[in-house]
Amino acid sequence: MGAPPDTDVLRIENVPVGTASPAGGMVTIWTINRPDKLNSLNAEVNAAIKAACAWAESDDDVRVIVFTGASPNEPPEGKRAKPNSFVAGADISEFEGMSSVQIRPIFDDNVWEHIWNLSKPTIAMVDGFALGGGSEIALSCDLRVATPRSKFGTPEINLGLIPGGGGTQRLCRLLGYGRAMEMVMSGDNIDGTEAHRIGLVNHLVEPDELRDKAMALAENLASKSPHTIRVAKAAVRAALEQPFSAGILAERDLFCALFDTADMEIGVQAFLNRDTAEWTGA
Ligand code: COA
Repeated sequence: MGAPPDTDVLRIENVPVGTASPAGGMVTIWTINRPDKLNSLNAEVNAAIKAACAWAESDDDVRVIVFTGASPNEPPEGKRAKPNSFVAGADISEFEGMSSVQIRPIFDDNVWEHIWNLSKPTIAMVDGFALGGGSEIALSCDLRVATPRSKFGTPEINLGLIPGGGGTQRLCRLLGYGRAMEMVMSGDNIDGTEAHRIGLVNHLVEPDELRDKAMALAENLASKSPHTIRVAKAAVRAALEQPFSAGILAERDLFCALFDTADMEIGVQAFLNRDTAEWTGA
């Protein structure tokens, strides 16, 4: 509970959902706000995201979390505008002079795991560069909506690095070994259209439709039972963590346990009575 930790580097906008059930639900939109540095992730942003994740997990009214990047500022007279960016990676200036001993604690408790471990649905709303740690934020979300002009990539190889926020593993799981290997080894970017074609992006929309599309997805998820949707997320995640036969058993356990919930009774009765389910969240 408590107030959302809105900061300069992470703007938090809470949008009430008309169809939320139980009522009172909201979609929380988090805008990473360092457009002059293409919204790259410095220590301040990382701390803000972690605090926001803790808040979102504890506040029952939060149903869906949407991540996005701030639009570019107006350029000063005579200067070129910065490009559109979701997140152009970790802030590379913070890597300068770092040893493995210094970097280790940052990656032991990293921001991507905080996002990944959210039990509520997450959506990345991408318009522009989603590179390195930025692509890893998108990959740590459950769904991705992007514009054709977006650019996804893992360019760490060009810095003498590899992805460190789970990118190698999540790309393999989402796209398969061959495509993941090419992206990680080449460091080349792909645009939003190609990302959509290969399944990295769920929905491809023009920039002026991006927010409406992301909000439509979020509102649909917010209209489900908050308990059941957490169980659905956990069940699909089991496919990543476990061998097939163990995953089948995990799904069966989760499915059967739902028969003891109020919301399963409510959902079944609503169907039988041609009524709208008013979820309790239990
Ligand atoms: N970390 C820190 N600063 C970054 C950054 C990052 N990951 N990505 C961009 N910036 C900064 C630039 O240094 C520049 O700052 P300045 O205007 O104060 O000099 C500003 O953002 C704009 O970037 P710029 O490189 O001038 O824009 P561009 O349109 O020429 O190129 C990119 C855009 C995305 C191709 C280029 O910025 C880039 O390659 N960024 C790094 C991407 C990366 O390797 N990410 C993985 C990090 S692990």
